[in-house]
Amino acid sequence: MAIERTLSIIKPDAVAKNVIGQIYSRFEGAGLKIVAAQMKQLSREEAEGFYAAHKERGFFKDLVDFMVSGPVMIQALEGENAVLKNRELMGATDPKKAEKGTIRADFADSIDANAVHGSDAVEAAQVEIAYFFGK
Ligand code: PPS
Repeated sequence: MAIERTLSIIKPDAVAKNVIGQIYSRFEGAGLKIVAAQMKQLSREEAEGFYAAHKERGFFKDLVDFMVSGPVMIQALEGENAVLKNRELMGATDPKKAEKGTIRADFADSIDANAVHGSDAVEAAQVEIAYFFGK
């Protein structure tokens, strides 16, 4: 199996709920190593740039407003099949549809405040990790 890296963001709702440690435990329990991390308040420009691919979607402004509403915790995770493994830990985008025991089922309130982001492919992960951590 391939050792990959993926970008994870613990969003403002989950940071406000004080569950960073619980979410980190899930990464570690699944064999994912936190190889870089930073807590930060995203600027509007940073959030818009990060989600540029979704610029034309109806929820873009709501998504950006939410992502700048408080600090986020950003980390690069490394491990076997890290991209897919993290997506499995996260659960579906809409917490109402997320499988029991996933991060979103347990910590997210709604589709627009859904606790975590995770890269959806290895190529996307490389771009997203570079966006926040450089090379
Ligand atoms: S994907 O991976 O592109 O297919 O995901 P998608 O479901 O299209 O969603 C892309 C990101 O937008 C967020 N999202 C929303 N935000 C606010 N309101 C609504 N209705 C909404 N629907 C989707 C979703 O959480 C994705 O953000 P990230 O940070 O990648 O999880």
